[in-house]
Order: sequence, then structure tokens, then C-alpha cells
Amino acid sequence: MPGSRITALGHYQPAKVLTNDDLSGTVDTSDEWIRQRTGIVTRRIAETESVTDLAAAAAAKALASSGLAPDEIDMVVVATCSAMDRCPSIATQVAGRLGVPAAVGFDVNNGCAGFCTALATADHALRAGAARHALVIGAEKMSDVTDWTDRSTCVLLGDGAGAAVLGHDPTGGGVGPVVWGSDPTRGHAVRLDDGWQPRFRQEGQTVFRWATTALVPIAEEACRRAGITPAELGVVVTHQANLRIVEAITRRLGADRAVVARDVVDSGNTSAASVPLALAKLVERGEAPSGAPALLLGFGGGLSWAGQVVTCP
Ligand code: ACO
Repeated sequence: MPGSRITALGHYQPAKVLTNDDLSGTVDTSDEWIRQRTGIVTRRIAETESVTDLAAAAAAKALASSGLAPDEIDMVVVATCSAMDRCPSIATQVAGRLGVPAAVGFDVNNGCAGFCTALATADHALRAGAARHALVIGAEKMSDVTDWTDRSTCVLLGDGAGAAVLGHDPTGGGVGPVVWGSDPTRGHAVRLDDGWQPRFRQEGQTVFRWATTALVPIAEEACRRAGITPAELGVVVTHQANLRIVEAITRRLGADRAVVARDVVDSGNTSAASVPLALAKLVERGEAPSGAPALLLGFGGGLSWAGQVVTCP
């Protein structure tokens, strides 16, 4: 059955690097604690850029790499939970910046599962013949929703964006069936507290236990629906929340031959941006071979999850 596939990727991160030592000057923490508990060494912080700026920069690179003209894009989807803009959407603003003249554009908020959710939504649209080429973007300015006095969360978060161009795939295997869902009974465990100045809060240990147990069967199911075993995966890109979570999921999954994204070390947790950011960097560095099956798995606020196996461009 015909479907869609990722034909090009792009990523963008702001220039400012925030180190663990920088943070230990403002809250009671240390480079040693952050590295041991999270694996994070640095994160990028947007001093001047908005979510739209980050999204547009990543999308411009993906579009240039695809070789498509702007008027060939007829769908733009932006996954974000940190954008303050409600209307017009980030997606239509990005379309305007890129000279995409008449695409349907909308934003998706599904926390850190947002990019995989947006990718599935665009894939379904292409399968249904409702679009020919889609730009799917994950973009976050988590620094806007960070409580910089809370050491348990401020050391985790970063800013950035990743983007994918989706095109028609006659054989249909390029973006595999999505596995997605939520557990609202534990929704309190990750949240942006209400208000005009929302702040990121989480019950770290609750999320940690959930992520390292509940997500492995979901990843296995995404592989099963794609017709492969975890051992056949060439690449694994989970949400980049914590290096210990990344390694626990990959180990329990038995994805022994896969190249594993560890971008959390350099970028911290960039929520909906983390999966496309990490994937785009692996592909750019030549570490994710063209044609390799890659598991994408987003999870977080909701508690929500979404994952699928894609073919690397
Ligand atoms: N520096 C030093 N000490 C700290 C810091 C810090 N930055 N933060 C917390 N501590 C202290 C705590 O106060 C606590 O002290 P106590 O024992 O005296 O009470 C101790 O360290 C242990 O705290 P825990 O919260 O138990 O630490 P843990 O090992 O669980 O690590 C972490 C915390 C990193 C948040 C971990 O629980 C985690 O990664 N959870 C999952 C996060 C996640 O996956 N989120 C994904 C969804 S949300 C999203 O992605 C946007």
C-alpha cells in the first residue's frame, strides 16, 4: 500500500551553550550530579530567537536539502508545547517565512510525544491523498517555561528544533504504523503549571519508572507493526529526556545492533524537538545509514507516547 517517507531533515539550535558549571553558579547543583543522574553536559539556550525562529530555521534546512520548491509543500505541522503564540499558529508563520504559499498549517501539542504524533498525522494525510509533501517540525523554547530557581528541573531543559520533509512512498514502508496513546491517570506527573507564565514541573521518579518499563512494549509493538524485530533496527531515537532512560529502553528492547541517539548529552531535554533534532544530527554525521530502519519514540506530558519505525533518508 502506498504511504510516505522522510526525504530530508534539518535541525537548528541557538548559539548560547549553558554548561553544568554555569548552572552550579545559580542553583545548588554540580556537574557531577547532573552527569551521573541525567548524562547531560550542555544545553542550548535561545537568547533572542522565538519558537517560530527555531522552527523556521530547522525547516528551511530540511526544505533546502529536499530539493523541493516552497510551493510543492502543501502541509506544515509544528509540534510544540512551549510556544506562547496561539493564533496564527507557529506552522502558518513558518510557512510564511519559507514562502510556502497555500499549505494547511497547524500546531500539535502532545508534549514530548508531539513530533511522532505530528509525523503520524502527516503520514495519514499523505496516505489519504490529502497532501503531497509535508513539513513536520518539532520546535521548543523550553527556557521560556523553565523555573530557573528549581534545581530539579532547570538542569534538564534546552531549546532547539528539528524538521523533516515527508513525500510520497509508492511501496509504503517509509513511515511505519504509529503506536500512540496516553495514560491520563498519571497526567499530573509532567505538566506546565497553568497561568500566563507557565512553568515546567514533573515528578521525576514517577516518570523515570514509567519510561523505563511501560515504553518497552510500545517500542516492540511499533517494530512488530513495521514487520521487523528490535534486533533488526539500525537506529534508535527515543525522546532525549535522560541518558539513563535512553540506555535502559534500548537495552531492554534488545536493539543490540542499532546506533543509539544520545543527543541529550549535548542538548538536554528539548521536548517535542528532541526526536527530530537527534535524528537529523545522526543522519548529517553519516551515523544513521540511508535506508536503515529507525525507531522513533516520543513520550512525556499526558502522560503520552507515540512511536513508529521510519526509513532513514
Ligand atoms: N542537583 C543536585 N541535587 C539534586 C538536583 C540537582 N540538580 N535535583 C534534585 N536533586 C536532589 C533531590 O533534592 C534529592 O535530594 P534528597 O535525596 O536529599 O531529597 C536527590 O537529588 C534525588 O532526587 P531525585 O528526584 O530522586 O533524583 P533522580 O535520580 O530521580 O533524578 C531526574 C531526577 C533526573 C529528574 C530523573 O528522575 C528523571 O530523569 N526522570 C524522568 C524525566 C523524564 O523522562 N521526563 C520526560 C517527560 S517530560 C519532558 O520530557 C519535557
